[in-house]
Amino acid sequence: MRVFDGVAMNGSLPPARRVLVIGPELEGVAREAFINSAVEMGEVNRLGALSATGPVPDLVVLSGDAAEPAVLARAIEELAQEPMVPALILSSAAPSTAVIRALLRLSKSDVLEPPHTAADFSFAAACLLAGSQVMGAEPQTPHRCWAVLSAVGGAGATTVAIELATAVGRLAANRPRVALVDLNLADGATAAYLGIAPNMIIGSAALAPDRIDADLLDVLVAKPAPQLDLLAAPRDARAFEQIAPQTILRILDVACHAYETVIVDMPRRREAWTIAALGGCDEIIIVSELTVPALLAARALAEEIERDIPDGPAPRIVLNRIATRLFGPAPSLSEAERALGRAADGGVASDWEAAAASVNLGGPVSQHRPKSKIVRDIEALAGRLMCEQPRYAAGREVA
Ligand SMILES: Nc1ncnc2c1ncn2[C@@H]1O[C@H](COP(=O)(O)OP(=O)(O)OP(=O)(O)O)[C@@H](O)[C@H]1O
Ligand SMILES: [Mg+2]
Repeated sequence: MRVFDGVAMNGSLPPARRVLVIGPELEGVAREAFINSAVEMGEVNRLGALSATGPVPDLVVLSGDAAEPAVLARAIEELAQEPMVPALILSSAAPSTAVIRALLRLSKSDVLEPPHTAADFSFAAACLLAGSQVMGAEPQTPHRCWAVLSAVGGAGATTVAIELATAVGRLAANRPRVALVDLNLADGATAAYLGIAPNMIIGSAALAPDRIDADLLDVLVAKPAPQLDLLAAPRDARAFEQIAPQTILRILDVACHAYETVIVDMPRRREAWTIAALGGCDEIIIVSELTVPALLAARALAEEIERDIPDGPAPRIVLNRIATRLFGPAPSLSEAERALGRAADGGVASDWEAAAASVNLGGPVSQHRPKSKIVRDIEALAGRLMCEQPRYAAGREVA
C-alpha cells in the first residue's frame, strides 16, 4: 500500500513465493534469481502430482535435460491437467516438438536458451507472473515507486536510479514508460547525465499543489530516452526554500497514478518532506561504496529510516563500483555485510569507461554501453525487485 499526501494506491507485482526447480544444474541460478522465495528442488514426476504433494508453487523452473523429451512432454501435459497450474520456465537449447506442444497447453510458459543468468530467470518470471491470478488473487496492475539515495556523496545513486528506470522499462512485460523523478531540486544531475534540458520550473505558479495533475506533469517532463520520462528541475540554489512539501508529495502522488513505475533520485540531505516521501515508496534503495566510511554511513542511514518509518519498506543496500582488482585494502563482501549489519541486496560492478562515456555522450549506460557490467548488474537488481514483494520487516540480519 502506498500513501502520498493521504492518497493510497495498491502496488507491486505478484511475487513468485514458491519456486519448484527441476534439474540440479539450475539450483544455483534459481536461488540467485528468486532470492526471497521458497525454492524447492524436485524430480520430473512431481509435475503430475503437484496438488497432492504440498503447496502448489507459483513457478516451476524445469531443465530440458531433466528427462528424455517424451517423458518431459508427458510430465508437462500432466501438469496442464492439475487443478492449479503454475507458470513454467523451461531451460532448453532445442526443445523437441512434443515438448513445445505440451508447453502450449500451459497458459503461462516460457523457454530460455542456456547459457542464462539469474536476471534472465527474474525477467521471464516477472513477465509470466505479471498478469497472473496467482493463488486466486485479483489481477493487479503493477505499480512501483522506488527511492534511491546515496549513503555518501558520489556513491552512485543517480547512476543507479537512471539505470534502474531504463531496466524496468525494458523488463516490464508491456514496456511501459517509466518516470524518473529527480528530487535533488537545487543541483540534480539526472538531466545532465541524460543530456537533456530539465523542464520542471520550481518557482512557477503552476506548481501549486492543487493544480498538479497528470496533464500538467506531462508538460513538465523531459523525454531523454525511449520509455523514460524525466521530472527534473533546472539548477537553482534556492529551490528547496521555494517549494512546499505538499507540492513534492503531490508530484509523487500524481506520478504514481500516471506511471506504472516511478524511480526517485532522493537528495541525501533530510528535507521536511523526506520521511513522507520515503514512507510512500515501496522500495528504498541505499547505494553505498565498498569503503568503511560509506558502509558505516549506509548502516546508519538504514537504521535511521527504519526508526523513522517503522511500518515502511525495509531499506535495501546496493554496493556500487565493486572492482575485480581493488587498490589498497578494501573490505571483502562478508566484511562489508558485517559493517552494514545486514546482507547487501545487490552489487554493481565498477566500469568507469562505460559510466564516463555515457554521461559525456548524454544517456543511460544501457544506451551507450549496453554490454557493460553496470547494465547487467542493475538489470538483475531490477528483475529481482520486480518479482519480489517489498519487505516491511527490519533488514535481514547477518549471522
Ligand atoms: N558502477 C560504476 N562504475 C564506475 N563509475 C560509476 C559507477 N557508478 C557511478 N559511477 C560514476 O561515479 C560518479 C558519481 O556517481 P553518481 O553521480 O551517480 O553518484 P551520486 O551518489 O548520485 O552523487 P551525488 O551525491 O553527487 O548525488 C559519476 O561520475 C558516475 O559516472
Ligand atoms: Mg546524485
